[in-house]
Amino acid sequence: MTILVTGGAGFIGANFVMDWLAAGGEPVVNYDKLTYAGNLESLASLKGNNSHVFVEGDIGNYDTALATLNQHRPRAIVNFAAESHVDRSIHSPGEFIHTNILGTYQLLEAARAYLATLNEAEKAAFRFLHVSTDEVYGSLKANDPAFRESNAYEPNSPYSASKAASDHLVRAYHHTYGLPVVTTNCSNNYGPYQFPEKLIPLMIHNALAGKKLPIYGDGMNVRDWLYVGDHCSAIRAVLDKGRLGETYNIGGWNEMPNLTVVHTLCDILDAERPRADKSSYRTLMNFVPDRPGHDRRYAIDASKIHKELGWKPAESFETGIKKTVRWYLDNQAWVGNVTSGAYRQWVAKQYQ
Ligand code: NAD
Ligand code: TYD
Repeated sequence: MTILVTGGAGFIGANFVMDWLAAGGEPVVNYDKLTYAGNLESLASLKGNNSHVFVEGDIGNYDTALATLNQHRPRAIVNFAAESHVDRSIHSPGEFIHTNILGTYQLLEAARAYLATLNEAEKAAFRFLHVSTDEVYGSLKANDPAFRESNAYEPNSPYSASKAASDHLVRAYHHTYGLPVVTTNCSNNYGPYQFPEKLIPLMIHNALAGKKLPIYGDGMNVRDWLYVGDHCSAIRAVLDKGRLGETYNIGGWNEMPNLTVVHTLCDILDAERPRADKSSYRTLMNFVPDRPGHDRRYAIDASKIHKELGWKPAESFETGIKKTVRWYLDNQAWVGNVTSGAYRQWVAKQYQ
């Protein structure tokens, strides 16, 4: 028995693959296109481990996806593969439409064709778990209740709109073709191996390089933050016990304005890696023009997954963020390798 993980060379996917194998899960076939966000170095600890097979492939390529499924006969697909960065979706929405919508469609088609080759017991056990985001629900006002699974979809960025479309396709393949799907909608993740284009690793990376810390708008946009290991355990719970055709919100019960996140990071770095001139990293904070269409607040009501599947996060923000900063301090070689030429081009385009 195996499972097929798509996008397993990215931030959450790589954490999931390592977490899954460490927890004694079946061998993993890791199917990833290796875009700028996919790094095999994140999986270096699995070198020589026969329980991890890497296949370079595009979810949008039906033939390769189906051939991989037919060859490895997985009992589940966990679909992480996506373009994932809102700012990039504002500059270049086409890639998001291509991978997140058309790619998910092709993968669903491949899964449907593969399912037809399984016997009844295998069909009954098979799962297509689609990993999605809370951003599909749109933006909350300060006093609105947190997102529930019954909220209407109101995506505001090309990224969230493309993820919303993929969620709808997954739902439709269940209702129309009986594909055994479950979908998860998770809040902002942080932790090891996150590409330094997203808020937390970008701030750590810039601070250590003595560069400015770009804060969009007034810095009071609110996100719910979840340690990546907790997202992985939630996905394992949903794969194991989630009801077919259902969606599960996953979150950390941990809403915070961006300014608080950046202050926290600066304070940890001040203690762990004081600057030569003894000034605080907070002096590098720099307010820059806001992101167009910037969602004001996300908050997740994760009571369904807690009540039905018994899942809750193990890390608090305090413990998770300290671990994360320590990881980046200890893994500067990984950061150095992923912040190559293409990364510099992105930073120049977005921040100058
Ligand atoms: P990421 O950008 O770090 O990694 C994406 C991975 O997908 C990369 O390895 C990339 O090479 C691969 N990929 C991209 N296009 C592909 C294609 N066409 N075919 C095969 N592989 C392809 O993303 P992430 O932050 O790890 O997010 C993973 C998933 O979780 C995404 O679906 C994202 O929408 C969702 N999600 C992310 C967060 C978050 O905070 N990062 C929160 C909730 C949900
Ligand atoms: P990000 O990590 O891009 O995640 P998302 O937009 O998917 O929530 O951004 C998190 C928050 O941080 C968001 O409100 C935008 C803000 N932000 C900045 O203020 N400066 C930055 O350089 C980045 C990348 C994000």
